[in-house]
Amino acid sequence: MYSKVKVAPSILSADFSAMGAAVREIERAGADLIHCDVMDGSFVEPITFGGQMVKNIRKLTDLPLDVHLMIEHPKTQIKFFADAGADIITVHYEACKKISPTYLEEALKLIRSHGVKCGVVVNPDTPAENIYGVMELCDMVLVMSVFPGYGGQKFIPSSLENIKKVREYAASIGKGDMDIEIDGGVTCSNAAEIRAAGATVLVAGSAVFGASDKAAAISAIRGDN
Ligand code: DX5
Ligand code: ZN
Repeated sequence: MYSKVKVAPSILSADFSAMGAAVREIERAGADLIHCDVMDGSFVEPITFGGQMVKNIRKLTDLPLDVHLMIEHPKTQIKFFADAGADIITVHYEACKKISPTYLEEALKLIRSHGVKCGVVVNPDTPAENIYGVMELCDMVLVMSVFPGYGGQKFIPSSLENIKKVREYAASIGKGDMDIEIDGGVTCSNAAEIRAAGATVLVAGSAVFGASDKAAAISAIRGDN
């Protein structure tokens, strides 16, 4: 059986002018990781933040920092996020494959070389099979359940199939306990079917930050009894 389910609130839905308070609040509410959405205005339209934000958050919490790089040329930024104290860095298959056939593998190895866990992210319209070749190198796979760029979008149901495929493939290569993360449109209502499909890390932005009782929302998404 794979690892315990974890909830990673996405600070994309926090008030950026009060980030410290937001991080402390989700930590108190029982977050397992902090999901940091890095956007460059090119791979996706918005710009969010860079390594400096992660460095500042690192000083506030001991929770693992899960850095989701939605950027072109991720290799150029990995050092900054590793030095900032990221615990896991994920890079998009789609950004890497535009550059060269070997770029994704190089990026994953570069993350590892900094002593940081690494993962690949796959968009909803990319066949899950496309990432099988690098899963051996990964600590985690991030399956997108919305197109990246914005919080508050609706969950794309076909993502459940992608989770199942990635879960089955992980088991077939002897990595049955690998974390599979899902990101986008996760709510208290759809979390049970997402967990049943085999996801072990559930990112939730608006469902946590929009909740008046954040501890209850995190607990419901995690499926605590
Ligand atoms: C989307 C980001 C997500 C986003 C999720 O590009 O990668 O992490 O914050 O937000 P919700 O949970 O509101 O869909
Ligand atoms: Zn994300």
